[in-house]
Amino acid sequence: MKIAVFKERRDGERRVAATPETVKKFIGLGFEVAVETGAGVGSSIPDQAFKEAGAKIAKTAKDAARGADLVLKVQGPAMTEISALPKGAILVAILKPDAEMETIKALAKAGVTACAMELMPRISRAQGMDVLSSQSNLAGYKAVLDAAAEYGRVFPMMMTAAGTVAPAKVMVMGAGVAGLQAIATARRLGAIVSATDVRIAAKEQVESLGAKFVMVEDDETRDAETAAGYAREMSKTYQKKQAKLIAETIRKQDIVITTALIPGRPAPVLITKEMVGTMKPGSVIVDLAVEMGGNCEASKPGQVVELAGVRIVGHLNVPSRLAADASALYAKNLFNFVSLLVDEETKKLKIDWQDEIIASVALSHGGKLVHADYKGGK
Ligand code: NAI
Repeated sequence: MKIAVFKERRDGERRVAATPETVKKFIGLGFEVAVETGAGVGSSIPDQAFKEAGAKIAKTAKDAARGADLVLKVQGPAMTEISALPKGAILVAILKPDAEMETIKALAKAGVTACAMELMPRISRAQGMDVLSSQSNLAGYKAVLDAAAEYGRVFPMMMTAAGTVAPAKVMVMGAGVAGLQAIATARRLGAIVSATDVRIAAKEQVESLGAKFVMVEDDETRDAETAAGYAREMSKTYQKKQAKLIAETIRKQDIVITTALIPGRPAPVLITKEMVGTMKPGSVIVDLAVEMGGNCEASKPGQVVELAGVRIVGHLNVPSRLAADASALYAKNLFNFVSLLVDEETKKLKIDWQDEIIASVALSHGGKLVHADYKGGK
């Protein structure tokens, strides 16, 4: 059995799909591992470290992929990479079928079994394979540091001989994985933190981190959470009530971190330009939902913009800004998933197509689109 690890080619992507630690573990499972030269550089892992872990270093993606049963990546492949994939190989990556169906179709046509890690079901058996959680957690932490870097004041209360500095007021919108880590990080820095969400289950989690929970509570909030644990898109009536609450709250905040997402839909707009105008000059908004359209009307993908003296941060691919840790956790998620595909006794690949995990992540197999939600190639 052979695994190939490609160097990431997309702009701004510093992560890598394997680390020396997971290379050792793959070899322990019975794999031979080839890593494309330079694949780890963005995550501070030189070729030599992969070599010492037992991997072979390949000059090109094509060389790495020759004879490979599995190819590991972070982002979906470029067309040139698809031509390097052996027919019948399994590609494991974040494949974004909603946005990149053409790539998935090309993978199907090339006879590749494409597995999209972000479609992992949220069941306890799959927690160690949940790339959305491992990466969002880091993004939530980094969002607070990015806010602190743009903010011309300090986070904690400081009592000095020259006077007292008031603590920063931080509000987190969307208290899922990224939001909860943002709350914890802002609290550690000494800020006064509040948070909001549409899922009532978030209340207890927010409060257990020492933050205040504010939300619009009505009949609709009882059904705001799907069976998969995600938020639903709320009704226009609810959105109006929520906008009123946010407008009243946001004026008093120094920092706002937004993380609200709805799977398969554009991110809900929670902060209008008008609301930004009511904030104090010098305040900062970090919009972690910017890639899905943004929670703030004024945020711009990949930019830090200013509106009425408020800085609005829209960094793309925030986990890649912490590439070494993001890669380490992502690589572990992939190892846990690949372990599921290996028969420990025979040391051969053995895929159980009835397994809920496989059925949830596999997009193409045997030349066809196979996923229940994406069979039509939408
Ligand atoms: P996400 O990234 O899809 O969304 C982030 C947050 O935004 C969520 O808390 C969501 O409720 C909130 N949100 C959506 N629309 C909103 C709106 N209009 N206003 C305010 N907030 C809004 O969600 P994430 O972070 O992936 O987690 C969702 C849930 O899944 C959480 O309860 C988390 O604890 C749970 N989870 C369960 C796992 C498991 O059981 N294996 C693994 C990871 C997360």
